[in-house]
Amino acid sequence: MIFESHAHYDDRRFDSDRDKLLSSMQEQGIETIINVGSDLRGAQETVALTEKYDFIYGAVGIHPSDIGDLNEEVYTWMQETSRRPKIAAIGEIGLDYYWDKDEEVKRSQRYWFCRQMELAREEGLPVIIHSRDAAEDTLKLVQGIHGEEIPGVIHCFSYSLEMAKEYIRMGYYIGIGGVVTFKKAKKLKEVAAQIPLEHILLETDCPYLAPEPERGKRNSSLNLPYVVQEIAELRGISREEVEEVTRENARRLFWKVK
Ligand code: NI
Repeated sequence: MIFESHAHYDDRRFDSDRDKLLSSMQEQGIETIINVGSDLRGAQETVALTEKYDFIYGAVGIHPSDIGDLNEEVYTWMQETSRRPKIAAIGEIGLDYYWDKDEEVKRSQRYWFCRQMELAREEGLPVIIHSRDAAEDTLKLVQGIHGEEIPGVIHCFSYSLEMAKEYIRMGYYIGIGGVVTFKKAKKLKEVAAQIPLEHILLETDCPYLAPEPERGKRNSSLNLPYVVQEIAELRGISREEVEEVTRENARRLFWKVK
C-alpha cells in the first residue's frame, strides 16, 4: 500500500469528479493521503476533506506565494486547527523566489516561514516545506531555527545531492514525485538513487507534476506507481520495498496518522 504524502484535492481541477476519484483510492492501493493546504481557502477545504474521508489527513499552512492571506487572526485559526486529531502537519510553508524577486516580499516570506516553523514546534507537529529557487536561504533559516528539533519533509525536492544530505543530517525527509520520471531530471534521479531509502517520502503534488507517461495531464495519487517503479529501478530494489519503506517513513513523520 502507498502513502501519498502531498496532494491538493481541494484544487478546483478536481471539482468535477473529486468524490468519485477519492472513493476509488483505497481499492487501487493508496492507503493514506496527506492533503496539503497552500492558501487559506485550501486549508479550510483540507479540514473538510479530513472530516469526510477516514484515510485523508491534512496539513494546514500558507505557501510562500500566498502569504498575503496571513495575519494574526489567520495564524490563530491555524494554531487552533492544528490541534484537531486529523491535522497531521504544518504546511506547506517555505520560500519561493521563483515568482517573487522583490526584496520586501522575500523578507515577508522569511518572516512567515519562521512564524509557521515556530507554530509547528509549539504544537509538536512536523512541517512540509516548499522551497524553490531559494536553496541557500531555506537551509540557513531551517538551521538557524534549529530545524533538527522540528521534524519535516522538503517537498518536491529540486536541489542537489549535497543539499539533500544537509537536510538528512537534520533528520529531514526528501519528498520525491513525478519529476523523477522525467528524462532530464538527472539531479533528482541521482538524489533518489543515493540518499538512504529511510529518508524518502512519496508524493504527487497533484494536480501538478504528473509523471511519465501521463506528463502534462492532471495528476492524481493513482499515478504514484510510476514514481515507485522509477525509484525501484534507480536503486535496483523491488517496488514492494520502495512502497513499504516509504510508508513506514511517512508514518514515523506524520505521527497522528492511525
Ligand atoms: Ni504542493
